Amino acid sequence: MAEVHVSVQRLRFGQTQRKDAWWAMPLLTLVVFTSFIVYTTWALLQGEHYWHGNYLSPFYSPELFGDSPHAVFGPWRWPWLPFVRYSPAMLILIFPLAFRMTCYYYRGAYYKAFWADPPSCAVGEPRTTYRGEAKLPLIIQNAHRFALYFALVFVVLLSIDAWHGLWFADPATGGKTFGIGIGSLVMILNVVFIGGYTLGCHSLRHLVGGVLDRLSRAPVRKKAYDCVSCLNRHHPKWAWFSLFWVGITDAYIRLCSTGVITDWRIL
Ligand code: FES
Repeated sequence: MAEVHVSVQRLRFGQTQRKDAWWAMPLLTLVVFTSFIVYTTWALLQGEHYWHGNYLSPFYSPELFGDSPHAVFGPWRWPWLPFVRYSPAMLILIFPLAFRMTCYYYRGAYYKAFWADPPSCAVGEPRTTYRGEAKLPLIIQNAHRFALYFALVFVVLLSIDAWHGLWFADPATGGKTFGIGIGSLVMILNVVFIGGYTLGCHSLRHLVGGVLDRLSRAPVRKKAYDCVSCLNRHHPKWAWFSLFWVGITDAYIRLCSTGVITDWRIL
């Protein structure tokens, strides 16, 4: 077979022959991610105004310990570990965060945006060595499948929250009555976006379809595989929508709780 030897020249950082706006997407990712991290950290540190009546912010769900009526085990009883008492979200946010940080799509996006490694395809990068994800610290990214197990539980928990968001306190009877507020719809949409993102995960696709050699012998599993694959085709869109919407859901409930806006009841 004939061979052609082509010498490969290492590009300087940022050097490229590309004429398109290759920097636009990494820049947008940098701005959106940074804004999300700043807002989430701020919301995490508030420790209050995370619920409004039957609505509970997804950043604080499930509220294991806390002072709101949504707390599963009541107030935090171990003052020698005060950070949970300070904000119930301290026990929670690590799970969805681990899932997003190790997501294959997000990895590709934030490696470009934050580390410029590389900034984009065919653009010179700042490092001369490549350690990949086979060594520390990035080997930890391989835990994505385990983060997925927790994320699936969170889809169920957020669905339960959205269900509770449809039941409002009735002062006349002292019980609860069915209703729909703008907040109920916001919470339901949050489940739709997070569900679409989680159920389209690459790791779930492998879990559902990777065990059997011939999916045609397992029709139910084949259907599930097709559904996950269908969601997976638009995984980046689900990733962005769910990121935006979870922030909007927290902000909406927070604004209702502080009295800045009033939740409008449709039903
Ligand atoms: Fe994105 Fe699993 S690959 S959530």
